[in-house]
Amino acid sequence: MSIRIPRGTQDILPGEVEKWQQIEKNAREICERYQYREIRTPIFEHTELFLRSVGDTTDIVQKEMYTFKDRGDRDLTLRPEGTASTVRSFVENKMFGDPNQPVKLYYMGPMFRYERPQAGRFRQFVQFGVETLGSADPAIDAEVISLAMSIYRSMGLKKLKLIINSLGDKESRKAHREALIQHFEPRIGEFCSDCQSRLEKNPMRILDCKKDREHELMASAPSIIDYLNDESKQYFEKVQTYLSELEIPFEVDPNLVRGLDYYNHTAFEIMSDAEGFGAITTLCGGGRYNGLVEEMGGPETPGIGFALSIERFIAALEAESVEINVNQGIDCYFVSLGESAKDYTVKLLHQLRTAGYTAERDYLDRKFKAQFKAADRLNAKYVAILGEDELQANKINVKAMATGEQTELALDRFIEQFKELGN
Ligand code: HAM
Repeated sequence: MSIRIPRGTQDILPGEVEKWQQIEKNAREICERYQYREIRTPIFEHTELFLRSVGDTTDIVQKEMYTFKDRGDRDLTLRPEGTASTVRSFVENKMFGDPNQPVKLYYMGPMFRYERPQAGRFRQFVQFGVETLGSADPAIDAEVISLAMSIYRSMGLKKLKLIINSLGDKESRKAHREALIQHFEPRIGEFCSDCQSRLEKNPMRILDCKKDREHELMASAPSIIDYLNDESKQYFEKVQTYLSELEIPFEVDPNLVRGLDYYNHTAFEIMSDAEGFGAITTLCGGGRYNGLVEEMGGPETPGIGFALSIERFIAALEAESVEINVNQGIDCYFVSLGESAKDYTVKLLHQLRTAGYTAERDYLDRKFKAQFKAADRLNAKYVAILGEDELQANKINVKAMATGEQTELALDRFIEQFKELGN
């Protein structure tokens, strides 16, 4: 039997890959405008990194990591997300000492989670994410959210829903934690074993349990928003004011808790509202993580960021029928007849490409007509036709495919004259 692709992964083939490239290019350009710079970190890290940041009671750490021992008996994990690595690198490279603060970083690359594959959920997926480290200004929260929104909107997405919540500061979270324990404790026996062990360690995680979602105590669980202290409330209000000033519509959802442990204050998700979009509608998730840098051994540094997957981005574009033009066409295709003419196009092709044009020729010894068909398939703007007679006469015919107009160029001045055709 032939070998098949692993479950939950996909090949991105030519024709499709151009969409990825456009999204990536667009995201990079927008990051530039917002003054974010790229960071590239390894695809695997010490397992300990994710235990300490994402949290050892989360689904990601407990059930979804690709963890392995290398030949030196080191405990390593394929990264399930990008924040942990970025923060590790921030500390390790002492970026907190950079005169330009806050430090604004973005990344793009594959992440790995052993999840049950379905539409929009993969075991290898590509995240584009940003992290801002070093500012606790609520204007940065609004900036990060607006950056995510503008990446989507600039590609033509309209049916987006932004939901936000506040998870509060340490003090608020502590009060909420106690209320959750009181709420669940009397009937914790009715919950799954994961929830039971989360009760003392991290009761907030019970709220995003997939198994016990329908339990009646879930809907009536105390909401973090009722436990925010004044400082946290004010912070959250300020974020909302900024979002309104930026004319970014949002909804406050007190049940938004996010699946990673490092969050506090602002948490947000962007969902697709498009009809016919699959069951998983979250396109992007993020939030503030003050305290994570210290947890990783760095000085006190606030942080906030988000990540989105390109897979779900493309699914949203499809759901909204946004066309991405993948076949841009080429500048010139050489059609030749006869051995020496064919040979000569090798040189002309090279000249065109060196001058920056996209160009192609026949490599299958096809007949004249079939070469024209190949030019059509590649959506060639010009077809340059060279036969033995033309070669002798130092000429080449160039046909503009849109108008059918033909121009005769001198072979020894080909590039110069091709440029004059108005490309
Ligand atoms: P997350 O919510 O786990 O957050 O993932 C962020 C986004 O990654 C999701 O909204 C979704 O678009 C995409 N995603 C996650 N899992 C899958 C999957 N199995 N298949 C396809 N796409 C997926 C984080 O990862 C945080 N690090 C975000 C963050 C950055 N928070 C602060 N800074």
